[in-house]
Amino acid sequence: MIRMTAALFLTTMLTLPAHASSALANSNACMSCHAADKKLVGPAYREVAKKYASQKDAAAMLAKSIKAGGSGKWGPVPMPAQPALSDADALTLAQWILGGAK
Ligand code: HEC
Repeated sequence: MIRMTAALFLTTMLTLPAHASSALANSNACMSCHAADKKLVGPAYREVAKKYASQKDAAAMLAKSIKAGGSGKWGPVPMPAQPALSDADALTLAQWILGGAK
């Protein structure tokens, strides 16, 4: 099952290079709580991008907060930590979100 998921993920990455980061978001279940342009359980990625648009170290900061999870920045619902996510993937996701999650 894990191997099948990995194969599927790789195929998606190879066939849709322009959407590599959204595939990453999908495969890490980010999209069960987030959407690009509307609030679900967590804030819309475009709102996140807007909030940190003027912050210089936003990508590194967000990568950290994606891995560690958090609460109280957007509302009372906490985001669970993502210990299985690599630092590189967290940074890729942070940059993708800051770019408008397209
Ligand atoms: C179980 C639901 C859930 C999942 C799964 C989830 N999130 Fe979140 N996320 C939240 C909630 C709720 C918040 C708001 C937390 C707060 O108020 O501080 C949040 C906040 C964020 C933020 C803003 C952090 C900040 O410092 O302002 C980012 C970026 C983010 N999530 C990205 C992700 C990514 C990428 C993934 C997948 C690896 C993911 N989330 C998975 C619920 C979730």
